[in-house]
Amino acid sequence: MVDGLNKENVIITAALPYAYDDLHLGHIASTHLPPDILYRYLKLNGRSVIQVCASDDFGTPILIAAERQGKDPGEYVKVWNERFRADLGRLGIVYDAFDRTSSPENVDMVQRFFRKLNENGYIFESEVEQFYCETDLKFLPDRYVKGKCPYCGAEGQYSDGCENCGRTLQPGQILDPRCSICGRPPVKKKSLHYFFKLSAFSSRLEKWLRENEGLQSDAKNYVLNWIKDGLQDWDITRDISWGVPVPLEKAGGKVLYGWFDNHLCYITTALKAAGRLAGGGEEFWNGSKVYHFIGKDIVYHHYLFLPSMRLGEGEFKLPDFIPTRGHLLLLGKKISRSKKWMITVGDFLERFPPDYLRFYLTRIVPQSQADSNFDLQEFADKVNNELSANIGNFVYRSLVFVKNKHDGLVPAPGTAGADERSVLRDLRLAAAETGILIEEGHYDRALKRVLEFSSRCNQYFQRKAPWENLKEEPTAVYYSCNLVAGLATLISPFLPFSAAEVWRQLGFQGPIEESGWASAAELRVEPGRRVGELKPLFTKVEEKDLAAVRVRLG
Ligand code: MF3
Ligand code: ZN
Repeated sequence: MVDGLNKENVIITAALPYAYDDLHLGHIASTHLPPDILYRYLKLNGRSVIQVCASDDFGTPILIAAERQGKDPGEYVKVWNERFRADLGRLGIVYDAFDRTSSPENVDMVQRFFRKLNENGYIFESEVEQFYCETDLKFLPDRYVKGKCPYCGAEGQYSDGCENCGRTLQPGQILDPRCSICGRPPVKKKSLHYFFKLSAFSSRLEKWLRENEGLQSDAKNYVLNWIKDGLQDWDITRDISWGVPVPLEKAGGKVLYGWFDNHLCYITTALKAAGRLAGGGEEFWNGSKVYHFIGKDIVYHHYLFLPSMRLGEGEFKLPDFIPTRGHLLLLGKKISRSKKWMITVGDFLERFPPDYLRFYLTRIVPQSQADSNFDLQEFADKVNNELSANIGNFVYRSLVFVKNKHDGLVPAPGTAGADERSVLRDLRLAAAETGILIEEGHYDRALKRVLEFSSRCNQYFQRKAPWENLKEEPTAVYYSCNLVAGLATLISPFLPFSAAEVWRQLGFQGPIEESGWASAAELRVEPGRRVGELKPLFTKVEEKDLAAVRVRLG
């Protein structure tokens, strides 16, 4: 995916979580962890890269949640923003900027887009029949109305989109509508709305989709079908108080729909992180490779709304990549907030270290829209048999020799033999192939490749049998320490905490992030180096830990 020779800047974004509920494992699996692996890898390669995210603050559900707590929505979303940063930070996912869609800078950006689209003829006014509840005396946008999907017939869908078939719905399209406050059928009333001419972009979108080879074919194919079915112009205003005001006198306090403003925060936040908000932002953006990582439920918005708004505005390039991953199921069932069928980041970290989650999710989530399943037993098995018994074991057995047989100082080796030459060749190969897999977006396969190499290291150690082959023992231990260092670099995009710990145990002072991917295959651990205090990298996941999670899930 990334052209290794091309030194242009890279901008990576992760889909913005709604500011009204905790991050759960599903968010991490599809949206936050995959980009972090790419980001860390690119940084290790010395690339200039920024990674950004934000809280998605506007919209009805958030307003409802804030009202329920008697809070001002602006205050309410700030609390969530802090929580997101804290949770993600504890998983080692740190953004160069983590903004809010409601920040003044983003509101400016959104209004600038609206004005420009309006000037360019892509905005029009139209009266719409809107649901109005005569009991609650208000217009009922989006999530205030539930009913039946006109396309696939699924019941209990919100009026702005169907979770079953993935289509977005225009106000008024939903069948058998009910007010979600009082449950009564609403009436229809006329209200003036602004529309975005999505239909005007059909052929440009189609061309972009067909020509851009960085886009995933599974997503592309069904988006092309949507275009073939005909795109509907898009109602972009709402009659609520919490949103970006339409920047026109006559709009009379209407606000823009959340999906009009939220993705623009990718741009705002990236420019903020790069210090280009005041000027030069377009050149910076357009001179970068742009990745938007998302889950498959928001394909429509990212493959249609987002590119057409950028095309219509005309100043910011379209994304090069939209890595789109499937849902994470939890023990085979769909994650659901309302049914409390979820594990939040906080719940998880109460019991397990962050790298266990990073490891397991990376192992099971492919680069496709296929769903993955978080299974507790498989989680334990993978942590115990792969992370602990393979990687952890090699690191520990190697360093313990230094500690016990050499007073903590790495021994000087004898002449390297065929075994050493062969395992070092394998290290170079592992670094190269893992790098390619990461660049291609196959983080699951990349991690598998690292595990293969770690097995290879264990084989080397086993073959040299330093516990009985005393003549070659210093050579074996010296090379093993260097393999440990190589492995530390290879695991660091995936398992940053463990990589840092290995680095410390090897007696290095600076952060491993500064060591560089290319140096993974060098002999960096010199004779006479003093190793740090040793402890096993991973402890086993036990049945009682799993039982506690099961209890929590009910
Ligand atoms: N908050 C949205 C969701 O969780 C995602 C917004 S991503 C952005 O579905 F593109 F709009 F920013
Ligand atoms: Zn449907």
